[in-house]
Amino acid sequence: MASNNLLFSFLSLLLFSLHLGQGSSSPVHAHFYPLKLFVFGDSYVDTGNINVNTSSARNFPYGITFPGFPSGRFSDGRVLTDFLANYVGLKRSPIPFTAWKKTGSKLRAKCGINFAFGGTGVFDTLYPFPNMTTQINFFQNLIANSIFTSYDIHSSIALVSPSGNDYSFYLATNGSPEGVKPFVISVVNQISVNLKRIYKLGVKKIVVVGLGPVGCYPSPTAPSFKKCNETMNSLAVFHNTLLKQAVEKLNSETKLGGSPNFFILNMYDTVLSIIKNKGNPKVGATFQTPLKPCCFGVSSNFSCGSVDEHGNKMYTLCKRPDLALFWDTVHPTQKGWFATFNSLISTLKRI
Ligand SMILES: *[C@@H]1O[C@H](CO)[C@@H](O)[C@H](O)[C@H]1NC(C)=O
Ligand SMILES: *[C@@H]1O[C@H](CO)[C@@H](O)[C@H](O)[C@H]1NC(C)=O
Ligand SMILES: *[C@@H]1O[C@H](CO)[C@@H](O)[C@H](O)[C@H]1NC(C)=O
Ligand SMILES: *[C@@H]1O[C@H](CO)[C@@H](O)[C@H](O)[C@H]1NC(C)=O
Repeated sequence: MASNNLLFSFLSLLLFSLHLGQGSSSPVHAHFYPLKLFVFGDSYVDTGNINVNTSSARNFPYGITFPGFPSGRFSDGRVLTDFLANYVGLKRSPIPFTAWKKTGSKLRAKCGINFAFGGTGVFDTLYPFPNMTTQINFFQNLIANSIFTSYDIHSSIALVSPSGNDYSFYLATNGSPEGVKPFVISVVNQISVNLKRIYKLGVKKIVVVGLGPVGCYPSPTAPSFKKCNETMNSLAVFHNTLLKQAVEKLNSETKLGGSPNFFILNMYDTVLSIIKNKGNPKVGATFQTPLKPCCFGVSSNFSCGSVDEHGNKMYTLCKRPDLALFWDTVHPTQKGWFATFNSLISTLKRI
């Protein structure tokens, strides 16, 4: 998910040198050590592929917690990819594909490659950025060009995040209410096609992000940030039910009496429980007003980080992002991801 007003200009990318040090989840040792992590999807996992300065993630105050400047992550700091990379024992987050392309160096792909672009979906949502099919094509081309060996691929993990942009796009382009259910079915079918394709390319451990409680995200609850939109949440429940069935089917088709190949991160129950409990006490995360984002526009015409023609900031920013679950209208803060990831770990222990 992401909102981007696109113009054309570029910031240099320094992401390959980001270290995952203090502030990320304390290193937990996974049962499986991938040599590489490959990432597909949207802003929940993008770590800097969109390099136009008009992307909100390329402007202050994005990145103020980590790395200290806007890095293209849609948060004040680390996102899901960074926490997973750390958890599975990688020294750094996989390099964003757009940065990697400039050199094509095998060494810089040592931890894998992140193909995710904020704002994209499994179908076309944010021109000109690549949908998930195209992102997987990029991956396939690198394999065809022997950037990775089959051993690299077999011992890697894929993280796949289709977190709702298809639905925002559907609603924004006046999709009919009657058409929603068939549309959810087509989205999940396409997710399933994508997961199977990544598996066929040789990745044996594939983690897919379920849809969160989108009706509780600040965007639909603004400006009071009090009450979740239950219609939207029931859409997420429907999506997740279908996704679970699809993943069970894939697992029954692919596992040969061994461990499963596909895993779902249950964002829905995890985030809902963090909202209900005002935090995740197990890891010392407290969010007194969990529905209220840290950074938001002064009116619905403005978003976090936007300035008017005179350069005046048109948003409010909280003093302590570490006390907020949400950073902007759809994305968690680093602390929000930390709290969420630590609850999701139980799913990953089975990897
Ligand atoms: C993006 O960069 C261009 C050229 O450097 C600049 O004119 C423009 O103001 C920048 N836009 C934003 C939103 O920072
Ligand atoms: C993804 O994008 C490509 C290139 O624009 C397009 O040809 C293809 O139909 C799209 N795939 C889906 C599933 O929307
Ligand atoms: C909930 O979201 C739906 C879909 O965006 C919208 O049509 C509806 O008006 C919202 N309900 C409330 C109570 O805001
Ligand atoms: C938002 O922008 C639209 C069109 O530019 C304008 O008509 C409207 O008054 C603005 N709303 C607010 C709350 O500023």
